[in-house]
Amino acid sequence: MKRPFAYIAGTGHAVPKRAVTNADIAAMGVETNDEWIIERTGIRQRYVAGEGESLTSLSADAARQAMARAGVQPGEIDTIILGTASPDHLLPSTAVEVQTALGCTRAAAFDLAAACSGWLYSTIVGESLIASGSADTVLVIGAEKLSAIVDWTDRNTCILFGDGAGATVLRRTPQRGGTKGILSTYMRSDGALAELLWRPAGGGAKPFTPESYADRSHYIHMAGREVFKHAVRSMAESTDRALDAARLTAADIDLLIPHQANVRIIEATAKHAGISMDKVFVNVDRFGNTSAASVPIALNDAIAQGRVREGSTVLFAAFGAGFTWGSAVVRF
Ligand code: ACO
Repeated sequence: MKRPFAYIAGTGHAVPKRAVTNADIAAMGVETNDEWIIERTGIRQRYVAGEGESLTSLSADAARQAMARAGVQPGEIDTIILGTASPDHLLPSTAVEVQTALGCTRAAAFDLAAACSGWLYSTIVGESLIASGSADTVLVIGAEKLSAIVDWTDRNTCILFGDGAGATVLRRTPQRGGTKGILSTYMRSDGALAELLWRPAGGGAKPFTPESYADRSHYIHMAGREVFKHAVRSMAESTDRALDAARLTAADIDLLIPHQANVRIIEATAKHAGISMDKVFVNVDRFGNTSAASVPIALNDAIAQGRVREGSTVLFAAFGAGFTWGSAVVRF
């Protein structure tokens, strides 16, 4: 186990006002139904941004809560890292817009693209900045406005995703030898699988054109069954690696907080890790898959429910488009 360089000092989350149920999606003319969505995914509703709700506003709301709970002022933030696949603008980063909204005038700010692994990747980068001495206090945000890039006529994808933001404040651990903080981390990618979950158009390789608009190739496209198989495999590898690196076993884990993509993927991950479902946090039923926001929203929800307390040892695992996957063990 490495010495913890950084710990999670505060958390927060924000979602749009409007909850959209499975029945609401069917009522929009999408050929689907509540029973199918619940049985195949576990999702009952998700939040969808409306007028005045942007990635920046959701991120800033979540960040203000996390900073208040950490007792950190805007001027104390050294770095802002925002994991997202749905930025407000393609240029510049949403992180700099959040910086301005929060008044973190001293901070360096940047976005990190790792899809659903975005918050875990960002946390690992933030921890590394602290370990190297480049930063003492890092604001890590995972946030998505997937409703803007999802094809609302494609029943393979539009039922899955939701909007929201989760934020955490990472701080340097006060002294050597402490056991509170990030105990282990792991991250991997495989770009050979990129086209299983991607937006074919809209970037530099195939810019927006009337043709891409007509064939809807600027929206998310996903090969669901293939993604499912790889997700189960990479989540299993992630939990093994983080536990091994922390020199812990499943019996040492108080709570597994996995990426909230699909309850069947979560159950397979827990089974592989040997963690019973009563020690697994699930809120995909209320939020859907919020990609980079899903793990930090789940963490903040778990703290609010008293399921993560002082002294809790938590295993995090995520996977996403890329493919990317990663994990961490954190003691609170
Ligand atoms: N409503 C009703 N029927 C549907 C729907 C729907 N929304 N979607 C598909 N179906 C139908 C299919 O057409 C198919 O019908 P058929 O048997 O007549 O051909 C049948 O239901 C089964 O379809 P499958 O795709 O095999 O269903 P599956 O059990 O695989 O579930 C799902 C689909 C939920 C998408 C699943 O594959 C999954 O969760 N995959 C992982 C997706 C994921 O996690 N993506 C996020 C990755 S993270 C990131 O980076 C964003």
